[in-house]
Amino acid sequence: MDRIRIRGGKPLKGSIQIGGAKNAALPLMAASLLTSETLCLSNLPHLADITTMVHLLSELGVEVSMNGDAPGGGHIGRVFGLNAHEPADKTAPYDLVRRMRASVLVLGPLLARWGEAKVSLPGGCAIGTRPVDLHLKGFEALGAEIELEEGYIRAVAPNGLKGAHVLFPSVSVGATENILMAATLAEGTTTIANAAREPEIADLAYCLQAMGAEIDGIGTDTLTVTGKPSLHAANYQVIPDRIETATYAVAAAITGGDITLKGTRLELIDAVADVLVKAGVEVSESEDGIRVTRTNGRIKGVDVMTEPYPGFPTDMQAQLMALLAVSEGASMITETIFENRFMHVPELCRMGADINVHGSSAIVRGVEKLSGAELMATDLRASVSLVLAALAAEGETIVNRVYHLDRGYERVEEKLAACGADIERLED
Ligand code: UD1
Repeated sequence: MDRIRIRGGKPLKGSIQIGGAKNAALPLMAASLLTSETLCLSNLPHLADITTMVHLLSELGVEVSMNGDAPGGGHIGRVFGLNAHEPADKTAPYDLVRRMRASVLVLGPLLARWGEAKVSLPGGCAIGTRPVDLHLKGFEALGAEIELEEGYIRAVAPNGLKGAHVLFPSVSVGATENILMAATLAEGTTTIANAAREPEIADLAYCLQAMGAEIDGIGTDTLTVTGKPSLHAANYQVIPDRIETATYAVAAAITGGDITLKGTRLELIDAVADVLVKAGVEVSESEDGIRVTRTNGRIKGVDVMTEPYPGFPTDMQAQLMALLAVSEGASMITETIFENRFMHVPELCRMGADINVHGSSAIVRGVEKLSGAELMATDLRASVSLVLAALAAEGETIVNRVYHLDRGYERVEEKLAACGADIERLED
């Protein structure tokens, strides 16, 4: 298994190209199941999760053609043509769903188009129990019958889905996406209330519109969808990855560096930028993206609570904790989205951080310096938080199990090395 070796202490300077958003790309790829015509997606990142989705869609009979790099070349992103003419199978098997929870996003499109679908239950996950009950209640509201059998969700709608009012009792990104996709082919009008408002959902809705769907309220917590008998071909470009953007912003901040993040937009990371500014980091819009610098002394402690968008994203909690671990003063980080999302804490403490977890909150007392150590990556965002901490630490850090990183960060070591980091991948 690959490892990453980092020798810390170098301020990062330069520019980093931000890729397309993984969490937008996955539902967009699943949306290809809604039509017999080709959905052409560009600016797709090159990540393990995208490959898993390609395998899953291929298993479901989708023809995937890779059309090389997007115009502009280099590593800007890839272009895929996805054609779901006739599904070979309507089952998402355990082996793929186990590897990536977002596999459950094929359920809505399959059910809406073919009146049946079978998807393995995702099962336990490292960052909490993460059930799919909200997805299933939404499908039932649209008239589907759901059964759980032998570890699989079996959903049928023999007479097609019917538009309905779906009120989510709590906000879920995946459930909003699944019901939104299903509603585009349901008969009549569907309203989705208490919908998640993440930019990736707006991205999905705009792509569905380009495919012929009728959707109102994009960007708000109430989406109204008027079902159509069929959708059609479209070309669509995936939005920039706001979590990758914010992660490299923290890389600049934690190393006392100066990085321009290219191909991304400040408005996508508003909540993170606010926190960084409070912590003493300079964040500004530049001609081709965002410039992040820290020149004036140590980071200041800040209290932060994760919330659904537009609040502070849970997917940035671990990275921010790494930054606050070297701040002046104390910070309280409260995680409200997932239980058990503090697995990076013991690893950061092994580097000398002073962090105590009390239920869903962590008290971070800043220390002057972290020191390098041998560490174990536990999940995607936890892994990158260890890389960030290592960039600022004294001495050498080895991060094991970096396959977690490869699920969500494209060429992380190359991007950081180009800004002056002493980082390399050790291949086994
Ligand atoms: C998506 C993101 C993930 C991010 C998360 C929250 C993708 C591919 N993944 O995950 O990176 O961390 O949003 O911003 O986009 N819940 C239920 N029942 C359900 C569904 C969810 O109780 O049926 C709970 C979850 O356990 C969690 C909360 O709702 O506590 C939010 O989860 P959700 O927004 O659904 O996250 P995902 O879509 O899985």
